[in-house]
Amino acid sequence: MSTAQMPTAGQSILFGGDYNPEQWPRETWDEDMRLLKQAHVTSVTLNVFSWALLQPDDETYDFSMLDDIVETVTKAGLTIVMATSTGALPAWMSLKYPDVNRVDFHGRRHRHGGRHNACPSSPTYLKYAPKLAGLIAKRYASLSNLVCWHVSNEYGGYCYCDNCAARFREWLAARYGSVENLNEAWTTNFWGHTYHSFEEIFPPNELGDAVDENRSLLPALTLDYRRFMSDSVRNMYRVEKAAIREYDAETPVTTNFMLNFNDFDYFSWADDLDVVSWDCYPSYDTDPSEISMWHDLMRGLKSSPFMLMEQTPSRANWQPFNSLKKPGQMRAQSLQAMAHGADTIQFFQMRRSRAGCEKFHGAIIENDGGSDTRVFRETEELGSQLHQLGTQLVGSQVRAKVAIVFDWESWWGMLGSVGPSVSLNYLTEINRYYAELYRRHISVDMVRKTADLSGYSAVLAPCLYMVDDQTSENLHRYVRSGGRLLLTTMSSIANENDQCHLGGAPAPLRDIAGAWAEETDALAPEVSVPLLFTDADSAIPQVRPAAGSLLCDVLRTDTAHTVATYGGDDYYAGAPAVTENSFGEGRAFYVATMPDKIALSAIMDRFLAGSGVETCAPDVEAAPGIEVSTRFGADGTRYTFAIDLAGKGGDVTLSTPMSDLITGKRYETRIALGRFGVVILKA
Ligand code: GLA
Ligand code: ZN
Repeated sequence: MSTAQMPTAGQSILFGGDYNPEQWPRETWDEDMRLLKQAHVTSVTLNVFSWALLQPDDETYDFSMLDDIVETVTKAGLTIVMATSTGALPAWMSLKYPDVNRVDFHGRRHRHGGRHNACPSSPTYLKYAPKLAGLIAKRYASLSNLVCWHVSNEYGGYCYCDNCAARFREWLAARYGSVENLNEAWTTNFWGHTYHSFEEIFPPNELGDAVDENRSLLPALTLDYRRFMSDSVRNMYRVEKAAIREYDAETPVTTNFMLNFNDFDYFSWADDLDVVSWDCYPSYDTDPSEISMWHDLMRGLKSSPFMLMEQTPSRANWQPFNSLKKPGQMRAQSLQAMAHGADTIQFFQMRRSRAGCEKFHGAIIENDGGSDTRVFRETEELGSQLHQLGTQLVGSQVRAKVAIVFDWESWWGMLGSVGPSVSLNYLTEINRYYAELYRRHISVDMVRKTADLSGYSAVLAPCLYMVDDQTSENLHRYVRSGGRLLLTTMSSIANENDQCHLGGAPAPLRDIAGAWAEETDALAPEVSVPLLFTDADSAIPQVRPAAGSLLCDVLRTDTAHTVATYGGDDYYAGAPAVTENSFGEGRAFYVATMPDKIALSAIMDRFLAGSGVETCAPDVEAAPGIEVSTRFGADGTRYTFAIDLAGKGGDVTLSTPMSDLITGKRYETRIALGRFGVVILKA
């Protein structure tokens, strides 16, 4: 892990985003430049989808239009994020070299069409994509306004072709050494799957072992295919990056990640990115805590600030209901990103497409072509404020004493499980705990399971389904030396081969938890079970309207004591539902069910009691729905963001006078935030 290399536009941050002038007559470009300058845009992302234009056949390359675009934006004084254009295949290539086209889950070889769909094992792709990236780097690396390389675009999806199958077998041979080892790791004697050579193994698609795209009869096969695809597609990025590095040793290289995305293990990818960048497209009903959580996760990938590479200024087009961002909401969401570590604010896109499937997608310059629109005015206003802010927040850090372990393998493992409940959702469970911390204005780091946890006062590992030896040691070390850990039902079910741990879940963390799940009930969607919390002072169970749902482990305690029991009239009424255990110098909580908000609040009170964890800005209070978060400059300056993301407005109360960095206004005690209002406060 290394600190991110953050591109800037000199005295300002990157503000701008995807610009696709190829789709417009040449005359439009000058007007675009005038408007973008008016909106205080400092940067454009170019060349995201131009491969077919740049390379009309095997031998010919034509950079004339890109040269013209580069010259236009350079003259306008904009910085450039240069993409490599490999996100969409040229039609001629698909026709001439079908190996570039993926074979889908149903076993069908695709023709030309779509994007983000090249086969990662295609010899043709692995020859031509890095070649193009290298030629682009050679041509543009010396531009003084080039600030970042953007490889391909939003990598996603899997391929199930014969080339991928062959490479998968090699990957398996390297991982397991022998087919006997693989048989053991995958427990292939289940339903007669014993293999006698690697040649017998095929990708888990519909023609073979799959139940659906997430699940197969041998979950370990799907799990390894996910690992293999994550590595293979990451290799597509790597070969292009290497080609760029032939000509440019310095400029940061990235590719853009996505929200709620589970195809690849972004933690492993992040090591290859000089700076993490991502595209944030919440829906109208995405809870603000989920957005903050993903920003925190993106920051967590490299423990460093990140680029907000894309967001829509107004609406998307590909969601079921593409609601507009309300007046002020785009600005509030932009500054929300910044509060969690974004050091760039970029959009898709600068000018709205006139045709193509994104013609209903929002843009800074809309179809009227001018600046007299709400969206343009809001962009211009934000641009001007960011210009005022300059780069003072760039590189500032979020300081969190609480970490949530986020794990793509656990996500895959749970997705791949047939049972115990179809309603089980890894993200929902992670967000359940994140949202409670968010509500309390507690800063959170999202960390990998092998991260150094020693700096955290509290660590939560909800549904950390897949625990290998290294993770087990890491968590033992943490708790033994005084940490406090929260585990839940579905934590530590399986090892890295998706074999259940023996010895009572959450073995091998059973000693830390001091309790184990003898059975696990899955509740029907309409059923919940009361939870009775034992008050510390009276040790008598108190009846509160707290409840659990979805899963109920029937816990047995070894050394833990009971914090809450199940109520109701099922046979496990009275059994422990939440436990606390001392282990080494530390302690562990185990939550055996999915707690509702009331239960969660009671659990969090107890879990954090005495930990020293507090709200990120103890001198700032805010009405419900207003996010409070902080970043710290290298000199220790605290920047406190108060953001109304709910669009209701409300009061922020200060116990120390502070000034708003955006307006320069000084506040003594009370700030009345309007709808989607934001202040960035400095004491
Ligand atoms: C993604 C892509 C962009 C564009 C936007 C539209 O983020 O990277 O090319 O299609 O979606 O929301
Ligand atoms: Zn393939």
